[in-house]
Amino acid sequence: MNQNDLKKAAALVALEYVEEGSIVGVGTGSTVNHFIAGLEGIRDRVAGAVSSSEASSARLAALGIPVIDLNDVTDLPIYVDGADEIDGDFNMIKGGGGALTREKIVAEVATRFICICDASKQVNLLGHFPLPVEVLPMARALVERKLQQLGGHPVLREHFITDNGNLILDVHGLRIAAPTELESAINQIPGVVTNGLFARRGADLLLLATANGVERHVARHSA
Ligand code: 5RP
Repeated sequence: MNQNDLKKAAALVALEYVEEGSIVGVGTGSTVNHFIAGLEGIRDRVAGAVSSSEASSARLAALGIPVIDLNDVTDLPIYVDGADEIDGDFNMIKGGGGALTREKIVAEVATRFICICDASKQVNLLGHFPLPVEVLPMARALVERKLQQLGGHPVLREHFITDNGNLILDVHGLRIAAPTELESAINQIPGVVTNGLFARRGADLLLLATANGVERHVARHSA
């Protein structure tokens, strides 16, 4: 199995968690694209989807799955999304696709965050993957300096504008021993929209695709 096969395997298991007649929270990325494709097969059993990006919205709409405004939703049983890294406490780095802000908003509404990954995303310590930070354009230089003071090496993601019209700084060189604290500290910098640490609201269930099958890991806080 190659990495894409593993992503697909995790995504297809996530379909089992879609509740009949419910609205589904949908993330962004190549792993989630397999989940969206799988939703087509159960289209009649879902009321619609709340999406975390224009890209996912377009895929959902193309399959005839209604895309619902988050403001019209109070009950979102599950949010399904990938990750760039996930640690043993189900903290994640996300935002490789640049959709971190909308992902974090939709995840906050959902009762259960289901993370779908291939095994390469599992790490002991977050930070090898550069941490994405969404920044208002006028604050770029300020935020770069503040991130350097926190020990990181921010690099502007070139030729990239988020769905919200902002920039992404990818922060290299962080070894993230205290993810909740760092998530909060970065979000305190004026001009930061949000950062790709999902620690304050981590995953509840990890569907981890390995060569031997898809493992289901329940977070301690959800057990
Ligand atoms: C997008 C994300 C993705 O979930 C993350 O980048 C993983 O992507 P992929 O499934 O393509 O490996 O956070 O903003």
